[in-house]
Amino acid sequence: MGPQAAQTAKITSEMTLSERADAIEEHMMHELDKIITKSVFANMTDGHVDMEGGAALQKKYPGKYFNMGPDPRLPPMPEKPTLLDYFKNRFSSTNHLLQSGALAVKNGHSEKVVLACLLHDIAVVGFIRCDHGYWGAQMIAPYVDEEVSEAIRMHQALRFFPDESMGYKYPDMYLKYFGPDYKPEPYIVEEYKRARDSKYYETSRLICVNDIYAFDPNAKVNLDQFEDVIGRNFRQPKEGLGWDNSPSAHMWRTIMWPTRFL
Ligand SMILES: [Fe+2]
Ligand SMILES: [Fe+2]
Repeated sequence: MGPQAAQTAKITSEMTLSERADAIEEHMMHELDKIITKSVFANMTDGHVDMEGGAALQKKYPGKYFNMGPDPRLPPMPEKPTLLDYFKNRFSSTNHLLQSGALAVKNGHSEKVVLACLLHDIAVVGFIRCDHGYWGAQMIAPYVDEEVSEAIRMHQALRFFPDESMGYKYPDMYLKYFGPDYKPEPYIVEEYKRARDSKYYETSRLICVNDIYAFDPNAKVNLDQFEDVIGRNFRQPKEGLGWDNSPSAHMWRTIMWPTRFL
């Protein structure tokens, strides 16, 4: 045990589970070359609004600088990352997206619809659940046809409203997840009304129709099969996704280096 590790809190059997988790995390931090910090948002998702200050943290980890680059605990990203690199190294549980994309191919939809299905929940799997349609649409807007990003934004609201004429009923899963009394918030209802009048309504509705959670949980769809569709319909920046100064480049950088100090 090095001198750094000796400073960490001792893990004892009297500690609560969360105290132990904190102590293990602190121990791990001492092993790293850089000080890794958590954003307020990450703490909020753990149920508390706070942030450790820079000076206090540096005192806790003497002789170290704050992380201003990649997080050594995460899979490394190439110098000029592509959308596929994010799929492979930053998105978790991509099976749902791949299966939705594959179903859109099977149903004979256009490449734009296939891409919209393939990317519809990238915010959920790589960034933030809450308002995932809006976040996801913003992330990809600079790189895809407006039809794709608008459809992704609107699918969040359309998911709650049936359209039998297009073969979409209110999902049983939502009854199970949110209960029979759940009513979408007014802003979602308003978004739904706007979506009905949008020229991209049909594409957005097709995301819902192909948005399948349980058609085969064990089916493995290979990302490779979408390489051509992505190549033709996603304008990959030559600088790398995140380094290209687009209006959403900062979002990709944040996903790439989520614990950068500033
Ligand atoms: Fe979704
Ligand atoms: Fe989905």
